[in-house]
Amino acid sequence: MPQTWMITGANRGIGLAITIELLRRGDRVIAAARNPWGGALAELAAEHPAALIPVELDVTSDASIAAAKEALAGQAIDVLLNNAGLYGPRDRQSGLDVDFDAWREVFEVNVYAPIRVAQAFLPNVEAGQGRKIATISSRMGSLAANPGNALIYRSSKSAVNMAMVVFGNSVRARDVSVMLFHPGWVQTDMGGSGADITPAESANGLIRTIDASGMAETNSFRDYTGEAITW
Ligand SMILES: NC(=O)c1ccc[n+]([C@@H]2O[C@H](COP(=O)([O-])OP(=O)(O)OC[C@H]3O[C@@H](n4cnc5c(N)ncnc54)[C@H](OP(=O)(O)O)[C@@H]3O)[C@@H](O)[C@H]2O)c1
Repeated sequence: MPQTWMITGANRGIGLAITIELLRRGDRVIAAARNPWGGALAELAAEHPAALIPVELDVTSDASIAAAKEALAGQAIDVLLNNAGLYGPRDRQSGLDVDFDAWREVFEVNVYAPIRVAQAFLPNVEAGQGRKIATISSRMGSLAANPGNALIYRSSKSAVNMAMVVFGNSVRARDVSVMLFHPGWVQTDMGGSGADITPAESANGLIRTIDASGMAETNSFRDYTGEAITW
């Protein structure tokens, strides 16, 4: 039976690769993006007019989330995937020099937005069969790595891990599984061309791992192959 996934930041990078793989296997995708009608999503919509549902969504905007929520009212979602993310500036992310405006902007996208989106679309997830909310975090948020760089990005991913565990415990009694993932180091605009794996490899691993997960995996932090990551 086909599933319905909703993916934020579905227009490029890892989000687009997951969208492509899901459409290929016959699932439906609610492709949420700031511009869901251009570029690669426009081509996919032409190929899959029934299975691809483009939705305009800026994950940092309450008005945009409210409009998307209204557009999707009554629509069951099996898997809600918080994928949209920002790295922040390549400099001014050190312990001794931080761009505070950039830090706030990254927190809006990487920390507050996944919770905003999860809260807004929880009724849709509860109406679905899958009952899963997954968030793309990063191994860079692991405190165990004890790092000395990328303060803005790393702290945002540590924070979203904590926020999602609190959220996961809040919806545990509703049988909604909440999971955090490291997608690998992926060849995207964010990961760069020298990264380890292609977006398709990451997408296939994430889909396989999410498919095989349920309530037993709620509040887990794993990579795209399903291997646990130390918090
Ligand atoms: N690539 C890696 O190696 C890697 C490693 C670990 C974790 N991750 C995480 O994986 C996720 C996807 O990363 P990626 O590599 O695919 O990045 P990417 O190629 O830079 O794509 C980022 C996506 O996020 C969207 N986005 C940013 N701000 C948004 C907003 N306010 N509203 C809606 N969408 C917004 C972008 O949309 P626009 O096109 O509109 O800007 C784009 O679709 C992120 O959470 C990232 O932190 C990536």
